[in-house]
Amino acid sequence: MSLPSPSYNNNAKSFAFATVRKRWPIIVKDIIKDLDTYTSDHPAAEACGKYVTGKLNQILADFENDAVVAAFLAQDLKLKPELNIYNEQLAQFNAVATVTWLTGPWLYLECYLYQLINLHFQETDKLAEVDAFERLKNFTFQQSSFGVLELCKRYEVLKRQMAVTKPDDATLKLLFHEYVDVSLWGNATDLSLLAGNVTLDDIRSVQGEEVRKKNEEKIIANDTDKAWTHFKNSTRHRVDFVLDNSGFELFADLNLALFLLDSSLAKKVVFHCKDIPWFVSDTMPKDFDHLVDQLGDASFFLEIYSVAGDKDALTFFLANLKTYVADGSIEIKQHKFWTSCANFWSIPAQKDLYQDLLLSNLVIFKGDLNYRKLTGDLEWEKTTPFVTAIQDLATSKLPVLALRTCKADVVVGLPEGLNEKLVDEYARSGNEGIFWTASGKWAVISFSDGL
Ligand code: F6P
Ligand code: MG
Repeated sequence: MSLPSPSYNNNAKSFAFATVRKRWPIIVKDIIKDLDTYTSDHPAAEACGKYVTGKLNQILADFENDAVVAAFLAQDLKLKPELNIYNEQLAQFNAVATVTWLTGPWLYLECYLYQLINLHFQETDKLAEVDAFERLKNFTFQQSSFGVLELCKRYEVLKRQMAVTKPDDATLKLLFHEYVDVSLWGNATDLSLLAGNVTLDDIRSVQGEEVRKKNEEKIIANDTDKAWTHFKNSTRHRVDFVLDNSGFELFADLNLALFLLDSSLAKKVVFHCKDIPWFVSDTMPKDFDHLVDQLGDASFFLEIYSVAGDKDALTFFLANLKTYVADGSIEIKQHKFWTSCANFWSIPAQKDLYQDLLLSNLVIFKGDLNYRKLTGDLEWEKTTPFVTAIQDLATSKLPVLALRTCKADVVVGLPEGLNEKLVDEYARSGNEGIFWTASGKWAVISFSDGL
C-alpha cells in the first residue's frame, strides 16, 4: 500500500503553515525572555545565557530566511548520540527535496527544533539541566486550581463511596468512561497551543465538569467501549500512559490512574515521560515531582488551602497519590525514544521499550503530538480506519488507546461526511473551515487491540 505524504510546512492549507510562521518564533522568543530572567537570578550563568541566546537568535533568523536545515555535526552527535536518527531521516527527506525550515516536513522539523534548542543548552556547563519552560509550566498549573479542586472533590466522594459499596461492572464501566473523559479533556490545557498568552479565562474554559459534559458530542470518534471490553477481559493488570503535558493534564491523568488502582482494575500504572524539555509543556520526571510538591504546598494553592473542606479534599487526593508512589503502584519512567523523530510504528524495533510495554494491558497515548506520531502525521483521508493509520502498531500486540483533542491537521477514523459537516460548522463560526482539526474543540478516542 502506498502511503500518503507527510504534512509539509509549505502547504498553505495546513495548520503546519501557520504554526511554523507564527507560533515557532513566539516560542523561541519566549525562551529568550525566560532565559534572561533566569540569568539575572543566577549571575554565574550569564555567559552561558549569552551563548544560548545567540544560538536562539540564529534559529529565529533561520526561520526568517527559510534557511536550509543542517545535519547535526560530529561534535553534536558526541554530546547527544540520540541525534543520529535525526541525521538519517534528514538525508531521506533531502533525497526528495532539500529540507528548509518553512518548507520541510512538519513533524520531523518540530522535533528537530526542540532537540536543537536542547543541544545548545547542553553545550553549556551552567544551563545543561535548565528547563526553559519550567516557569510557564508552573504558572499555568497554579492557574488551574478551579479544575484541580473539582477533581479532588469528586475523588474524595468516589473513594469514600467505593469503600462502602464495591461498584458492580456496569458502574465500573460508567466510571471508566468518566475518567477517560477527564484524562482526554485534560489535554485541552496545552501551553504550546496557547503560545504564551494564557489567561485564567482560557484555562477555565477548558477545565471542569460542566465543560466536559457539554463537550461529550465533540468526541467525534469514540472507542471507549471497545477499550473497556478489551481491558476488562485482559488477564494483565498494568496500564501505561505515554504522557503528554505536565500540570493540569498530568493531574487529570493521575485521576484516571487513581481510579484504576482504587477499583483494582489495575495493580500498576506506569507513566512514561520525556527526557528533555519538549513541545513547551510536556512532562519530564522532575515535573511529576514538582506537581506532587505543588499539591502539598499551601502557598502554591493558596485559595484551596484557605477553605477547610477544600484543603481536606486536596490533601486526601495527595495522601492517596503518595501511597501509590511509595508502594510502587505508580512508577515514573523516561526513554529517549519519546523525543526521537521516529514515529510510533517503530516501537517494536525499540527492543527494551517494546518488551516493557508488552507487559501492559492498555497503553494510553495522550495528546496531539503522540497522535501525530501514531499516525505518522500523514495526510490520511479522514475516513481511514485508525488501525490502518497506525500501520504495524495495529498488529504489534500492544493495546493502544489514543486520547487526543485535535490540534493539528491529521485526523482519522471519521464516518463518511463528518469532515465536510465540521468544515461547514467551523466556517459558520467565522473561521477557516478546514482548520476545525486544529482548533482543540473536537476530540478523538481511538483504540486498537494490537491483535
Ligand atoms: O506545535 C504544534 C503542536 O505539535 C500541535 O500538534 C499541538 O497543538 C501542540 O503542538 C502539542 O500538543 P499536545 O501537547 O497535545 O501534544
Ligand atoms: Mg504536549
